[in-house]
Amino acid sequence: MDVIRVEGGHKLHGTVHVGGAKNSALKLMAATMMAPGVYHLSNVPNISDVGLMGQVLTMLGASVDYDETQHRLTIDTSAADKWVTPYELVSKMRASISILGPLITRFKHAVVAMPGGCNIGARSIDQHLAGLKMLGVHFDNDHGDIVADASSGLKGALVTLDFPSVGATENIMMGAITAKGTTIIENAAREPEIVDLANMLNKMGADVRDAGSHVVEIHGVDELHACDHTTVGDRIEAGTFLVAGALSADELTVEGFNPVHLDIPLRKMEYMGIRVERGENRVTVCAPEKTLVPADIQTLPFPGFPTDMQAQFMVLATQANGSSFITENVFENRFMLVADLIRMGAEIRVEDRHALVKGPVKLMGARVKSPDLRGGAALVLAGLIAEGYTLVSDTFHIKRGYEAFVEKFNAIGAVMAHIDMPD
Ligand code: UD1
Repeated sequence: MDVIRVEGGHKLHGTVHVGGAKNSALKLMAATMMAPGVYHLSNVPNISDVGLMGQVLTMLGASVDYDETQHRLTIDTSAADKWVTPYELVSKMRASISILGPLITRFKHAVVAMPGGCNIGARSIDQHLAGLKMLGVHFDNDHGDIVADASSGLKGALVTLDFPSVGATENIMMGAITAKGTTIIENAAREPEIVDLANMLNKMGADVRDAGSHVVEIHGVDELHACDHTTVGDRIEAGTFLVAGALSADELTVEGFNPVHLDIPLRKMEYMGIRVERGENRVTVCAPEKTLVPADIQTLPFPGFPTDMQAQFMVLATQANGSSFITENVFENRFMLVADLIRMGAEIRVEDRHALVKGPVKLMGARVKSPDLRGGAALVLAGLIAEGYTLVSDTFHIKRGYEAFVEKFNAIGAVMAHIDMPD
């Protein structure tokens, strides 16, 4: 069993470079299925979810070549001729559902198993299906597979989402690209990764307007073509390292992302007493000499506080002088790291979607288990300031979304290692 062993108490310093956003790269990869041709995607992170999406595309008949040193993907979808995505792959990663819109656009048919991924909530896809239905797609459920049929044609429509779902906004956008007429998505999600996808779709010949706002307009086009695209920087990877810096750095610079995409978490840090210096594509922080001020945090769709940064800030809150109150509004099951943080000495009480975190506490190293991607990363952060060794197991969660997590930390002064332990 692979375990990350973190030796607590080492100061971080220097500069760390973040890669392209997982949550963008996966959708850009799916989008290559929409039109046959050769695509070059740059700044693609070397993480296991990208590998899985590559396998999905390969199963559909595309050829996928990843240059690890250049972080560049070459995808040729010219010969892709299948629209059935197997359960074995889709069940491992929720983001595989983003292949649905592209397959419908290209083949007018799709069979996609119901998705899996992090165990952080029910994660229904009703909004994806309701929106695509408005465009003229007929859906059946065949023993756990979603069977989509758009053979009678796609027509632009007004789609109003119940909730600004990231995945639903993206799937409906991709399903509407060649629909006849205009599609309007109201109450659309506004995440930077959606803007990145829309930019790539427009390079492919699509006409998507106002992505990044509440109302996205898509004017149907007749033809699409392949293109090259560079993935936007990963604001969540950046935010994770910045929290590490706030916990234990003399001075840490995180570069390769747009600080505007992390505005509210950065403001929270400032409120808590952390000095934050913003540059064009970089932010510098250091651990304050005074004890942190507690903060109230509510996760919300972008530009609100990201649910993907909630676990990391929970660790920060254990070091604040007083009670911090965290409310999780996006996913219902995202406090799974709490039990292990308490084992490390944290004082946290959870009720329903709320967590009360009391600080400051001295954390102690312990054996803990990644409950999900961001929870696992947060436990590694806790290990940085804990006394002694922290052993974080189930590292496959962390590898889904962080490239060379341990190596990047060691390069800025942390002392960690992947070690093999008996199960
Ligand atoms: C994406 C991100 C994930 C991030 C999340 C919210 C990827 C690969 N993942 O996930 O890292 O945490 O956005 O920023 O991009 N919901 C429904 N019905 C639907 C769709 C969603 O009820 O049809 C619910 C979900 O169960 C969840 C909430 O809406 O409670 C948010 O989901 P959504 O915004 O769709 O997140 P994802 O696209 O799954």
